[in-house]
Amino acid sequence: MSVSASSLAIVYHSPYGHTQKVAEWIAQGALTSLQRVVVMNVESVDWDYLDVADAIVFGCPTYMGSLSAAMKLFMEQSSKRWLARTWQGKLAAGFTNGGGLSGDKLAVLQQINLFAMQHGMLWTGLPIMPTGRSVTDLNRMSSFLGLMTQSDNAPVDVTPPKGDLETAFYFGEHIAQTIVRIK
Ligand SMILES: Cc1cc2nc3c(=O)[nH]c(=O)nc-3n(C[C@H](O)[C@H](O)[C@H](O)COP(=O)(O)O)c2cc1C
Repeated sequence: MSVSASSLAIVYHSPYGHTQKVAEWIAQGALTSLQRVVVMNVESVDWDYLDVADAIVFGCPTYMGSLSAAMKLFMEQSSKRWLARTWQGKLAAGFTNGGGLSGDKLAVLQQINLFAMQHGMLWTGLPIMPTGRSVTDLNRMSSFLGLMTQSDNAPVDVTPPKGDLETAFYFGEHIAQTIVRIK
């Protein structure tokens, strides 16, 4: 596959749309370097596309300090691919959205990271220094393992805030540039 055909899949779970919005901002960032980015709901996964993509980004809301159940189900459904090593060597990254500032989001990123390592994937973190702690700042939650965003109990058009969405865009750009570099 040529560099120009490099592709990224973003698999998300998002009952109320906030995590989906983050996924879409990651995709927009990735499209600055890639021709093809497919954003898919974890409840209607295109397994064939996941198998050919150069990188897969996994994201879900933080629920009770853990993955949401739909994402966990998807992980378990991937076990045949784990056995066949189908995703080995692909890039992987993770993100989570929560209502709390901490909300124990780190536990979700750690679970996604372990899942990717079980598959033999190559982990990509979020290499961006926090620029502050306000809602317009980049990486205001100081996460490095992956992307953390926070949404209030409000409509998707007002939350997560601008800084979190711009951090998501940067995250997408970084993942895409990493794909291009390693190919
Ligand atoms: C059952 C449940 C458990 C939750 N647990 C947490 C939590 O542990 N930490 C947190 O920050 N937010 C928690 N939240 C808030 C969700 O993370 C938040 O509503 C979600 O990220 C919104 O994303 P969505 O619009 O994509 O569904 C919880 C929400 C629900 C419904």
